[in-house]
Amino acid sequence: MEKQFYQQILDDMIRIAKESGELFKNAHAENIDKKLNARDLVTEYDKSVQEFIFSSLSALYPSATLVGEESGDLASYDVENTVAFIIDPIDGTTNFINGLAHSCVCIAYAEYGTVMAGVVYNPYKDHLYSAIRGKGAYFNGVKMQVNDTSIKEGLVGFGTAVYYDELIEQTKRIFGEALVKCNDLRRMGSAGIDIALTASGTFAGFFETRLCPWDFACGILFMEESGGIITDFEGNKLQLNKKSSVLAGNERAYAELFKIINGN
Ligand code: IPD
Ligand code: CA
Ligand code: CA
Repeated sequence: MEKQFYQQILDDMIRIAKESGELFKNAHAENIDKKLNARDLVTEYDKSVQEFIFSSLSALYPSATLVGEESGDLASYDVENTVAFIIDPIDGTTNFINGLAHSCVCIAYAEYGTVMAGVVYNPYKDHLYSAIRGKGAYFNGVKMQVNDTSIKEGLVGFGTAVYYDELIEQTKRIFGEALVKCNDLRRMGSAGIDIALTASGTFAGFFETRLCPWDFACGILFMEESGGIITDFEGNKLQLNKKSSVLAGNERAYAELFKIINGN
């Protein structure tokens, strides 16, 4: 009974994420506007894809709260105390604007602060990452598992959180130390895909000094279902109602990156 319930939600989210991907996959960014500052951009497509996802989900799940990157302030939602879909219509907008063909759609379903199902879809590669809590996480049908690589031998993904001037020095410091200690680093431009790549064993770990719940909500579930760890930089559980630093990794890489981040 319970399985069918979450499977139905997941199936709906997958269909909607795939249809959303088709809406921007071959598009050129139009009507580019600034949000927080000149580095934080939004296009007509971010808004129209979110509208499509909202209308599709609200037709099927009219009582659920819909939280989307393009609909405003996080504080106006009570995500920790309600049943909600948390949506990033295009994660990797800067990639999209510049034609880099590396972005995804993120849709998470959460009950009272716990992510129960999640979908990250990269339409450029037809890469689908999905999970139901307690049932494993899957990449194009294959069970996801974190790798067991130390950062010395492994790749580490990271994000630059460029919208926040006050965090640039911290990112530089962590990056500088990681550059010495990791096999190599990758800044790909979509946190949703970065965390999915960590859960599926491509990256040993991932870090970014500040992300929003729509960037990491699916990632929480993917990491937990694939044997990895995901927390903020202090080791606290991520919450769905606020921005946060994010550290993810297999057990070993997580501990190594934790040390670098916390300077010990
Ligand atoms: C951004 C991407 C990027 C990360 C930023 C996010 P957006 O999301 O995930 O990789 O570094 O912090 O805000 O704005 O393209 O949806
Ligand atoms: Ca995002
Ligand atoms: Ca976005």
